[in-house]
Amino acid sequence: MCAVATEAVIDSRVQQFLNTPGKLLIDGRWVHAASGQTFAVLNPADGSTLAHVAAGEKEDIDRAVRAARDAFERGPWHTMQPAVRAKLLWRLADLIDEHADELAQLESLDNGKPLSIAKIADVSLASEQFRYYAGWTTKILGDTIPIGVPFLPDAQFHAFSLREPIGVVGQIIPWNFPLLMAAWKLAPALAAGCTVVLKPAEQTPLSALRLGELICEAGFPNGAVNIVTGFGETAGAALSAHPGIDKIAFTGSTEVGKLIVQAAAKDLKKVTLELGGKSPNVVFADADMASAIGGAASAIFFNHGQCCCAGSRLYIEQSIFDRVIEGVADEAKKIKIGPGMAAGTQMGPLVSDEQLARVTGYIEAGFAEGAEAVCGGKRHGAKGYFVEPTVLIKTNAKMKVVQEEIFGPVVTAMPFKDLDEIAAVANDTVYGLAAGIWTQDISKAHRLAKQLRAGTVWVNCYNVFDAAMPFGGYKQSGWGREMGFQALNNYLETKSVCVQL
Ligand code: NAI
Ligand code: MG
Repeated sequence: MCAVATEAVIDSRVQQFLNTPGKLLIDGRWVHAASGQTFAVLNPADGSTLAHVAAGEKEDIDRAVRAARDAFERGPWHTMQPAVRAKLLWRLADLIDEHADELAQLESLDNGKPLSIAKIADVSLASEQFRYYAGWTTKILGDTIPIGVPFLPDAQFHAFSLREPIGVVGQIIPWNFPLLMAAWKLAPALAAGCTVVLKPAEQTPLSALRLGELICEAGFPNGAVNIVTGFGETAGAALSAHPGIDKIAFTGSTEVGKLIVQAAAKDLKKVTLELGGKSPNVVFADADMASAIGGAASAIFFNHGQCCCAGSRLYIEQSIFDRVIEGVADEAKKIKIGPGMAAGTQMGPLVSDEQLARVTGYIEAGFAEGAEAVCGGKRHGAKGYFVEPTVLIKTNAKMKVVQEEIFGPVVTAMPFKDLDEIAAVANDTVYGLAAGIWTQDISKAHRLAKQLRAGTVWVNCYNVFDAAMPFGGYKQSGWGREMGFQALNNYLETKSVCVQL
């Protein structure tokens, strides 16, 4: 690891945006929180204050839900011609691309991720979401259904199904990919014709607010998208319990996912959840070594390990264990750590002091249970929330570091003997979000892919995403899927219409 020096210059429009206190987007207007309160948004690279945004609470959520409800009942969002909805979504995608540099800077400053990654990954995947779902607006089809009633042999029917928007949707998103998570949530909901109240994470509200401005600029009807910044315990809890919403979609911790389910149970609102993970990444001895080593390293170190699908449990076939560990540790040592905005940074800080404490706490817990660090193992520097990329060996299935989601650049590595044993070991977790397999034996890859209880299995690759490919969890990693037609389904109801002729 080596520190990097030069900071990129902050774009003047970004600086102006940061200098202007953030407001809430309600019914197409930017308004203060009812309480008049704001809170500080911190730069994780040094803990300094980047901006202030409105501290939305229950009353603001009430206002936003009312606006979304009015917009849904009154239209014109879901009553608009599907092709017109498509054009607006596509226009928003274009605006995101036109403002890519600015959005990437905001994301890098706010979340800590390297500027180059924010631009090529977060921003471009976000605009692609809106384009992909723009295409779906004109393809939401029902069925015609041949039916008959046994005791009315002469009756004839025309039966068909309609797919209708579920209504008003509350969406709560996390801080690891702030803009992209907003896009994953908003794009399918809007394509379906729903109206939305979005609550960004308190750590990283900035890019969602800028996205709100672009939504206004694109010409979306007032109230179709409302954005309330605020804390989870106040704004988030009020949204998930609100009787005025029909559905809640959440991405974040499994712990809060369970609270969301309890809150939604009161009036049985629909729920989808994208939660934590502890994904196994399995390297067989016949794998292409260079790609397996590079892939195992990026599976855990990409986004500083702050990925729900991070390949955080590395299982390596016994005969190549030392070689792969040495390779992954070498990759870790080469990673340039620094502020996200500094040229050449490959790994920035974790998002907050809370996450710094959490991740270093897990590393300490690992040491206390007998794990050893081949590289890393502690905080990096004294300023900002940096953690060294860490490879832990001498770990076993019972350890906290192997069972629990760390959400930082920390991988636990363990050897295994053969294909017959590895599926059960890999599946030995309450989670089931993703998995990786590295082998050149195609039938071995497919046999294991079938056995793994995970929503995504990557073979000879990792962290590959496309708006068309569903993503989500088995077991306690969640309910439902993001992306693809499956995510559109999260926002649609089916109505059967049965006509006797
Ligand atoms: P969190 O689950 O508390 O926060 C995620 C979102 O939920 C934020 O918008 C937050 O304001 C909101 N929230 C928090 N409490 C809420 C409540 N009672 N009701 C409604 N909304 C609420 O996650 P946190 O505390 O930031 O991170 C803790 C751990 O969660 C991480 O270390 C990681 O393990 C996991 N996590 C998983 C993510 C994923 O992508 N699946 C993303 C972020 C965190
Ligand atoms: Mg929390």
